[in-house]
Amino acid sequence: MKIGFLTSGGDCQGLNAALRGVAKTLFGAVPYVEIYGIQDGYRGLLERKWRKMEKREFSGILREGGTILGTSRQSFKTMRDFEDSSAVDNSSKERLDTMVRNFHNESLDALVILGGNGTHKTAYALSQRGINIVTLPKTIDNDIYGTDYSFGFDSAVAKAADVLDTLHSTAAAHGRVFVCELMGRKAGWVALYAGIAGGADVILLPEIPYTLDAVLDVINKRNKSGKTFSIIAIAEGAMIKDTKPQPEKDRKAGDISPGMELVRALEDRLEQDVRLVIPGHFQRGGDPTATDRVFCSRLGAMAGELVLKRKFGYMVALQGLSIGAIPLSEVAGKMKTVPLDCEVLKQARLLGISLGE
Ligand code: F6P
Repeated sequence: MKIGFLTSGGDCQGLNAALRGVAKTLFGAVPYVEIYGIQDGYRGLLERKWRKMEKREFSGILREGGTILGTSRQSFKTMRDFEDSSAVDNSSKERLDTMVRNFHNESLDALVILGGNGTHKTAYALSQRGINIVTLPKTIDNDIYGTDYSFGFDSAVAKAADVLDTLHSTAAAHGRVFVCELMGRKAGWVALYAGIAGGADVILLPEIPYTLDAVLDVINKRNKSGKTFSIIAIAEGAMIKDTKPQPEKDRKAGDISPGMELVRALEDRLEQDVRLVIPGHFQRGGDPTATDRVFCSRLGAMAGELVLKRKFGYMVALQGLSIGAIPLSEVAGKMKTVPLDCEVLKQARLLGISLGE
């Protein structure tokens, strides 16, 4: 058996733990398995950048952040074709065909792909072209459809909650308002969970456009009650009610972020100091939590089992308390944001946390 491993999209904690889980399962079950590490995501498949990996390379990586394979954010649609490096305008179809051809030329039996939403669209397109594929759901954003959690999420929440925890003492010392902008793209999962874990007074999510009045109300009431500081967790995709979000493709470095927008609006309306903290990629770096390590290992074992059973075209997933599998056709092209009837939202409100409504 000759299996290619590939990690694609933004990195997150737990990629190495998951790779190790699949490798251990495969090496443990069949003596004749060969694992090929494909470099930098789909770019490596397109440009034939891979190498045979030794069993020992998967040792000692359970707690390592990043990915031993490297990854790339670039969509395969904009990558140059290995066979004609001047062909920047190759159609997506040609690039997919090149990846399929490279897969067959190397006589690979299957690909194990770790990635998020974009990665899953490509994985599905490749599987429709007859490639044997098993995928694992990776992203701190937790926005992959078909799995209760994606790995990396728990670790990112822990990092973000740590930031919110730390802000409390300095906020209290100066009687300031802190706005902490958290990652998650169009989904508010990281802000919601980190906000609850880190004791935020206000949590603002893309799924619930907020009003400034609601946020000011919380700060003023806290001040009146003698709590002269406030902590606001705002998701990077959050927006003020009745405004339009800026499409991601139009965003440039230096643009005003939702956190900055809120800070400016609060500064105009409050006597108090307001400060902005953006932990950014800090949320994606470092070691996976113990929970993520267990989760990745379980997902890895399941992915390995699917490969051994030659059950292809599936993403391994957390379904309740069990690890199951869902067809790629049901995952590709969908996104899981925080549902408005989500129990956690209801419980946040019961806890007295404002959602800016
Ligand atoms: O998808 C993961 C994520 O960290 C998002 O939360 C964030 O918006 C984005 O990636 C950042 O992307 P990049 O690593 O390309 O800066």
